[in-house]
Amino acid sequence: MKKLLIVIGILWGATGYAQKFEGLALTPPMGWNSWNKFGCNVSETLIKEIADAMVSSGMKEAGYEYVIIDDCWQVGRDADGNIIPDPERFPLGMKAVADYVHSLGLKFGIYSDAGTKTCQRRPGSRGYEFQDARTYALWGVDYVKYDWCNTTTQDAQASYQLMRDAIHKAGRPMVFSLCDWGWSKPWLWAKDVGHLWRATDDIMDCWDCEDDRNNAGFTILLDRVADIYSYSGPGHWNDPDMLEVGNSGLTVSESRAHFSLWCILAAPLIAGNDLRNMSEETLEILTNKEVIAVDQDSLGKSGIRVRDDGDLEVWVKQLADGSRAVVLFNRSLTPENISVSWTELGYPSYLKAAVRDLWQHQDLGKFTGSFTAEVPPHDAVMIRVTP
Ligand code: GLA
Repeated sequence: MKKLLIVIGILWGATGYAQKFEGLALTPPMGWNSWNKFGCNVSETLIKEIADAMVSSGMKEAGYEYVIIDDCWQVGRDADGNIIPDPERFPLGMKAVADYVHSLGLKFGIYSDAGTKTCQRRPGSRGYEFQDARTYALWGVDYVKYDWCNTTTQDAQASYQLMRDAIHKAGRPMVFSLCDWGWSKPWLWAKDVGHLWRATDDIMDCWDCEDDRNNAGFTILLDRVADIYSYSGPGHWNDPDMLEVGNSGLTVSESRAHFSLWCILAAPLIAGNDLRNMSEETLEILTNKEVIAVDQDSLGKSGIRVRDDGDLEVWVKQLADGSRAVVLFNRSLTPENISVSWTELGYPSYLKAAVRDLWQHQDLGKFTGSFTAEVPPHDAVMIRVTP
């Protein structure tokens, strides 16, 4: 009997142990991350105020859950190799921050890097994977974003598997968010490693700007993820990067289009604006429950671009109840009529179907064969079509 147990133990160790926490992120994670708006300017005060605002603004009620501190919270390691949070910015340590976030019924996320240093040259987790994961578990971390700077010749698959194993060993369920910017095509291998993976370089706060490191505005990132829709599903999502809604670079129409498209993609909805200070329009976009329901639909299918007529596009997402969400997207600078035909939705053209406008919160009536809307410049119309 004892020998049998030893053999089982060895086999378990050799084969069965390595795994990610299952049952997490069955719909795309929703939350907030400090990077897009605050960069390195993170602190306990900021995180607590943002967590408060997530509750008081109605964001929590709309489904936002994770409060995530990105780069720059860490300053060094102690003699035993334990990671040290910036003592001036986080005077009570990270557990106190996590406890506060948890006390509001929210979840807490943190950032590290697979290399020797993070992108802002803070200590990375290379060589400290198990120790860091154990520390995160002690603090009560629920979500780990794991970046890819300063990794030199490291292998992405091996590096992310190592941290996955470390998190699993630490024993606390944590969503594992891979951030190698799509360089290793994680959609091809990371389904059993993480719960979401960045598929692009960084989002920029603009419509279609681009820098020399491939960071770009949301319309460009959209094109880069358009063909990998089939790799997204419950527990494993393509991540076209965080939201810029509510920052200064997009108009209200552009923000509505950005949010509509991220929801049709079943993208993680990680807000990146100052939740303490939101305009009515920003809040209305970020908390539109009918649009969020498309993102969070239990079928977990990413939408598909079924038509690309230059500046005019049609995106379709299949939903669990058999209905379809549709985004009519106008990239041009003039108002344009955009149509979607039922055959593009996978329905017969004789079918009569109800159309509801998800931004106007209005039933538009029953239509047979197709639907057409006038879409303002740099904007999107989002509808749900139910047979
Ligand atoms: C990389 C990531 C960003 C952010 C920064 C922080 O660029 O892609 O999302 O985490 O690092 O330094």
